[in-house]
Amino acid sequence: MDATDLLKQFTALPLLAQVVIVPTVFFGLAFVKHIVSQTLLVNKSEPPLVFSWVPFVGSTIDYGMDPFKFFFRNRKRYGDTFSFILVGRKHTVCLGTEGNNFVFNSTLAETSAADIYRGLTVPIFGKDVCYDCSPAKLMEQKKLMKYSLMPDKLAAFVPIFLSELQHYLDTAKSFQGNEGVFDVVESVGVITMYSAASALQGREVRDNLRKDLTALYHDLDKSFLPINFYMPGLPLPVNRRRDEAHQKIAQIYKDIIKSRRQLGPGSKGEDDMIWKMMESNYKDGSSVPDHEIANMMIGLLMAGQHNSYSVGAWILFHVANRPDIQEELYQEQAAILGTDLNASATRDSMNQLPLHKMVVRETLRINAPIHTVMRAVKSNLTITSRDPKTDSDKTYTIPTSHVLVSAPGVTAQSEEYFPNPEKWDPHRWETMGDVPENASSYYLPFGAGRHRCVGENFAYLQLNTIVAFMVRNYKFYPMLGEGVPATDYTAMITRPVLPARLRWERRAKI
Ligand code: HEM
Ligand SMILES: *[C@@H]1O[C@H](CO)[C@@H](O)[C@H](O)[C@H]1NC(C)=O
Ligand SMILES: *[C@@H]1O[C@H](CO)[C@@H](O)[C@H](O)[C@H]1NC(C)=O
Ligand SMILES: *[C@@H]1O[C@H](CO)[C@@H](O)[C@H](O)[C@H]1NC(C)=O
Ligand SMILES: *[C@@H]1O[C@H](CO)[C@@H](O)[C@H](O)[C@H]1NC(C)=O
Ligand SMILES: *[C@@H]1O[C@H](CO)[C@@H](O)[C@H](O)[C@H]1NC(C)=O
Repeated sequence: MDATDLLKQFTALPLLAQVVIVPTVFFGLAFVKHIVSQTLLVNKSEPPLVFSWVPFVGSTIDYGMDPFKFFFRNRKRYGDTFSFILVGRKHTVCLGTEGNNFVFNSTLAETSAADIYRGLTVPIFGKDVCYDCSPAKLMEQKKLMKYSLMPDKLAAFVPIFLSELQHYLDTAKSFQGNEGVFDVVESVGVITMYSAASALQGREVRDNLRKDLTALYHDLDKSFLPINFYMPGLPLPVNRRRDEAHQKIAQIYKDIIKSRRQLGPGSKGEDDMIWKMMESNYKDGSSVPDHEIANMMIGLLMAGQHNSYSVGAWILFHVANRPDIQEELYQEQAAILGTDLNASATRDSMNQLPLHKMVVRETLRINAPIHTVMRAVKSNLTITSRDPKTDSDKTYTIPTSHVLVSAPGVTAQSEEYFPNPEKWDPHRWETMGDVPENASSYYLPFGAGRHRCVGENFAYLQLNTIVAFMVRNYKFYPMLGEGVPATDYTAMITRPVLPARLRWERRAKI
């Protein structure tokens, strides 16, 4: 029987049978190919591949439910370097301190962040900034951002944070009276948003636009979804609202810039980031166009907000579950800051609260909001890694078809570097000694190398101020029978599984 006979017999079948047979045969073939390529046709020069049964899906569900469990389990089996299939594509993860360095310290010829993040971020941030421009231009843009995040500039932010906190807690429904229950993710989300917008973006936003921006920001945020990461550009309703929100927010910033240009530098009350960018030039001498300033502001607010609200929420849960630490925090700041927070809270005094700092550090160790960092592979890479089966070094090629993955949270949660790693124990940092600051460190919640975070100092100051203020004014308790919530990894940024609530009681004034 030849192919034409087969085709004739097939077309003679009832339509229903045809409709069933075709996908079955296709899937059957794909399945066989998938299994054979993992068993009989293994390419020994590439990193070992985590076995999976279903083509395309691969390890997506296993990884997606709990990336850390997935990484730890497979690291035991394959060592620090292995591949897994995520949404149809091979991803090679490089764990351990050498893996951290391999990914974060890679060169532009070796990897690209933009090629991976562009589809998700460009519609949110807008054109000509961040991953929609050359890596060299992104570096220049990060320099502009850094200027306004330097220690002397940060000093002006503490009173802004405090007044935003006071305003929120005076007006929020769930904080009226002497005790109550609040939705932690929602409340911390509003607090970090208001405080970041007010501090970074200047007087106009603080006085008039926080509410407008917050509502629009939510529409942008809702499009920050895995589906937009893997399949950008779908005509989904969330994406239509995202595009409208982007236009409106960008217009708000462009209007601010325009009116500032008309009034001139004489109207400059304070030296915020928007002024800095308006007065700056790129290396080639060109000024920074208004739409780029607007888009950088959107990008910054997004980058900062996501991470800060998540860490802030986790801190409150840990603290609520450790009344001893809560009391120590209270005593520490009462001793150092005294009775009038408004008068005593400055950037310097906030830096003198060692336990507050260690609480942020320890929370970032266990609950780093960015669990997986990705890069496109631009040239065939080689990596040497220990194979636990033979206990010998193996050298693998990572081809350009793979995506390179780093998960520095794995070293940060390893027994090797942090005894009793699952335990949230801020005091462990008292005896840790100096943590290496280069890309081969075991503690990299802010990344390393050319894409390293510019917001670390800002985030510490913001979170320290929030913790100090909250612990000074309230006592927090877990809801009856609940502990620290589990982690929801299905959003792009890790956060507590919802509903995540705590009980509060107002403290007597110091
Ligand atoms: C606790 C808070 C934060 C954490 C844990 C965090 C974490 C990170 C990490 C891990 C990266 C590297 C991503 C990569 O290599 O692919 C990064 C990059 C970045 N972050 Fe943060 N971040 C935080 C807060 C902030 C804040 C407050 C801002 C702004 C004010 C900010 C702005 C940025 C920017 C501009 C980048 C550079 C992206 C690039 O060069 O590709 N972050 N952050
Ligand atoms: C601190 O300052 C803020 C605003 O500047 C004000 O709303 C608040 O009442 C002050 N708090 C105290 C305790 O003085
Ligand atoms: C990577 O290696 C493959 C096969 O060895 C080769 O075909 C390809 O051109 C190489 N890619 C680059 C970017 O060097
Ligand atoms: C095995 O992988 C290497 C590195 O990606 C590639 O150059 C080579 O062509 C592959 N061999 C086969 C038989 O596919
Ligand atoms: C990074 O720093 C640590 C200690 O600070 C050092 O031991 C290590 O060699 C450094 N790594 C690289 C790759 O430079
Ligand atoms: C990062 O890479 C550069 C050059 O590629 C190298 O000089 C430097 O030592 C590396 N840093 C670390 C920490 O490995």
